[in-house]
Amino acid sequence: MVQLINAMTPLEEARAVLADSFDLKFSAAVKKSTSGIYDRVKNQIPEIEWPFYAPLIFQINRLKKKKDAVILAHNYQTPQIYHGVADIVGDSLQLAVEATKVKQQVIVQCGVHFMAETSKLLNPEKTVLIPDSRAGCSLASSITAEDVMAMRAQYPGAPVVTYVNTSAAVKAVTDVCCTSSNAVDIVNQVEGDEVIMIPDQYLAQNTAKKTKKKIITWAGACEVHETFTAADIAELRAAYPNSKIIAHPECPPEVIDAVDFSGSTAAMINWVKTEKPPKVVMVTECSMSDNVASETTGVDFLRGCNICPHMKRINLENILWSLHTMTEEVLVDPAIIPDARRAVERMIEMSKKGD
Ligand code: 13P
Ligand code: SF4
Repeated sequence: MVQLINAMTPLEEARAVLADSFDLKFSAAVKKSTSGIYDRVKNQIPEIEWPFYAPLIFQINRLKKKKDAVILAHNYQTPQIYHGVADIVGDSLQLAVEATKVKQQVIVQCGVHFMAETSKLLNPEKTVLIPDSRAGCSLASSITAEDVMAMRAQYPGAPVVTYVNTSAAVKAVTDVCCTSSNAVDIVNQVEGDEVIMIPDQYLAQNTAKKTKKKIITWAGACEVHETFTAADIAELRAAYPNSKIIAHPECPPEVIDAVDFSGSTAAMINWVKTEKPPKVVMVTECSMSDNVASETTGVDFLRGCNICPHMKRINLENILWSLHTMTEEVLVDPAIIPDARRAVERMIEMSKKGD
């Protein structure tokens, strides 16, 4: 099977074009100009790998200025992206909020497709690129707009609160979006005692424990977090008796009940930086520990993580390719933009009220 650099282009072909168009040698100038970045990630990236990453980082950072581009990266991106080329990093809510303030004409979304669609909804006049459009999400692919309409018919009058991990088409038939950082707040603010909260059954069940409202949900799940079990947490506690264990609310409730803290990716990062536990296990995607470890001293990060294959589709090579060729552009059907955008903007407004 031919390997692809993104959804469309053969890898070898793209590499040949990149090699022709950019100096990708690990020269003394590249080494010097990226030494500050390497200093930050040296405990996560072996020295032997740096000569491959550094020239790509150097060229991406040059090209993004030339193309008037900004790179938004999710907390699950690898350290070489998160610390090397990202202008703005954060959880889904922070990235959505920051996307509303972007001045540049081009946004390169280093994350999964629904995140790029959210940036496009908030910036319909800008060019939004994703380095590989195959970067999907098991939650986003679990539900369609037709499924939401069928739920509305089944529970007339119940407001629909939709996790941002969904397509723009699903957002367009939604009352308000939420993320893992504001789910309880949003559910408490919508009208009525009965709320449809889709598509993550576990985020919904974890939210239901923190609100008086009745939550109706959908059978979606995150393929990365649904596999963690209470038995895993018990094993981690036995293996690392003096460690703190924290988890993302996409994990099943039995996991959340067994850990010391649960929150969005940004909330988990803040918790570690504030609490500074001597040892911590972050029960979530693996790059989180790497990224926080690069900027936190005195905390030992122990492993208990899974890799998100969708997030890992984004790499330095396809970011450079994306900027060089201005692909793959993320487009949203103009007919659904106003409704989908309204659901995201309402969430941002309601999150401010909850602060
Ligand atoms: P956050 O909003 O917490 O960053 O979560 C996004 C996500 O995809 C987690 O799996
Ligand atoms: Fe989707 Fe889970 Fe990957 Fe997040 S970690 S992008 S929810 S599959």
